[in-house]
Amino acid sequence: MKIGVVGSNRGIGLSLVGQLVRFRHQVYAFCRNASEELRSVRPKNIIENFDVTNQAAMRVSLSSLGSVKLDWLTHVAGLLRPVTFSSFNKSSVFEQFKVNAVGPSLTVQVFLPYLAQSSKIGILTSKLGSIKQNASGGSDGYRMSKSALNMAGKSMSGELHPKGIALFLLHPGFVMTDMTGFRGNIDQSDSATHLSK
Ligand SMILES: NC(=O)c1ccc[n+]([C@@H]2O[C@H](COP(=O)([O-])OP(=O)(O)OC[C@H]3O[C@@H](n4cnc5c(N)ncnc54)[C@H](OP(=O)(O)O)[C@@H]3O)[C@@H](O)[C@H]2O)c1
Repeated sequence: MKIGVVGSNRGIGLSLVGQLVRFRHQVYAFCRNASEELRSVRPKNIIENFDVTNQAAMRVSLSSLGSVKLDWLTHVAGLLRPVTFSSFNKSSVFEQFKVNAVGPSLTVQVFLPYLAQSSKIGILTSKLGSIKQNASGGSDGYRMSKSALNMAGKSMSGELHPKGIALFLLHPGFVMTDMTGFRGNIDQSDSATHLSK
């Protein structure tokens, strides 16, 4: 299959690219700047300058795909600022909203010409976006942005379903990455294995 991974230079995205390459998929790895680790797993194509908050830049980068149609698009890129309500500030909340809540919709929009009628989209959300499961608070801006993402995903899926495109919101687990300060219940490769099934 032809699979696009957005946010592929480190963390869960990098492990996912590695896993998919091992399964012999043709992987298109999108990132702002490629890491040595990403280059070493040898995806079919690495597409840089891919900032999910900048549609003009994404369109320019995507033009290198030509007539390629992806079977799967996976949006992994995300941002966490561990700020609680008491230390909460507007810029950190807006920053997370830009990447986590708005970024995926901007990304899906620019990818539409590169998706086929039966293509599938996976977007990484988080359990922290669940209102029902929020017993403790903390990471308020992140939680708010992922809740908004859940709503965006549900709305997008309503519009994409008649076009034959299915959209999934996926929680990757509590994963040991930069984002969590390498705390968590599972490592990146376990998370990638489950996501790629
Ligand atoms: N780790 C967990 O326990 C956990 C739990 C639930 C959900 N998630 C979600 O899973 C996804 C991956 O998380 P992770 O743990 O792998 O995080 P990570 O290690 O911090 O990696 C974040 C990735 O997102 C990219 N990114 C951030 N802002 C971007 C932007 N504006 N444009 C393009 N790429 C951008 C980063 O690229 P740069 O290197 O260029 O910054 C990096 O590749 C996120 O959506 C996160 O919210 C993670």
